[in-house]
Amino acid sequence: MFDYRGKTAFITGASRGIGKKIAEVFSDSHANVIKPSRNEMDLGSIASVQDYISNHDLSNVDIFVHSAAVNKLAGITNISSEILDDSFDINVKSAILLIQNMVEGMKIRNHGRILFLSSLYASVSREQRLAYTVTKNALTGLVKNLTLELAKDNILANCIAPGYVMTDMTKKNLSEEEISKIQQMIPTGRLQQEQEIADLVLFMCSDMNQSITGQLISVDGGFLCN
Ligand SMILES: NC(=O)c1ccc[n+]([C@@H]2O[C@H](COP(=O)([O-])OP(=O)(O)OC[C@H]3O[C@@H](n4cnc5c(N)ncnc54)[C@H](OP(=O)(O)O)[C@@H]3O)[C@@H](O)[C@H]2O)c1
Repeated sequence: MFDYRGKTAFITGASRGIGKKIAEVFSDSHANVIKPSRNEMDLGSIASVQDYISNHDLSNVDIFVHSAAVNKLAGITNISSEILDDSFDINVKSAILLIQNMVEGMKIRNHGRILFLSSLYASVSREQRLAYTVTKNALTGLVKNLTLELAKDNILANCIAPGYVMTDMTKKNLSEEEISKIQQMIPTGRLQQEQEIADLVLFMCSDMNQSITGQLISVDGGFLCN
């Protein structure tokens, strides 16, 4: 349905879960997909990110999707400086540094699409999700700032917030009992699928989207209506 021939999409966190599906749908739509593994670029190490940037020309990137993230469980009494650093570096800072090296090329071509995988935790929170909540909220501010600076060059920046998808992240942080309780709270009665998140990404990055920018868009089966 979407034809991304001639476009280059750079996807972080494409080894597993939602990011993997996003990389697949872009490939299926004939985009040139760049998806560095953790070995090629460790987003938890700013030195590694800078090293990757120094050795790769990112000026040809048309679409940037930041799917990589960590959700390390801790609250105010047990959070560590390491968890905060890791969460900010992987969830936010690495993406900003990468985008910084992509926007000049996007401006020259008068086209760019930037998407962050956000979360329900940009809207609500839960115990032990301090770093995850704060970093996902940071992305909401980031897309507003990017919009003010970049929209005039047809570079649009948004957050997509899935509800609950059965990936490694969900399995690691929630028991089967918790997942079953959550499922009962979702008006559509089921968790989200990787495919439906990836389909929205394809739309948001296409030329069908000309005006949606600076937004946080939930794909949660109505969970946040509770
Ligand atoms: N699953 C959900 O229900 C859900 C809900 C709302 C939002 N989200 C968001 O959706 C996105 C994808 O989530 P997911 O569930 O697919 O996550 P996941 O299955 O845990 O996968 C995380 C991805 O991030 C990569 N990553 C983590 N740390 C990295 C590092 N230091 N350097 C490079 N890559 C790193 C992982 O690479 P490795 O394989 O090398 O570890 C993996 O590809 C995240 O932004 C998440 O916050 C997920």
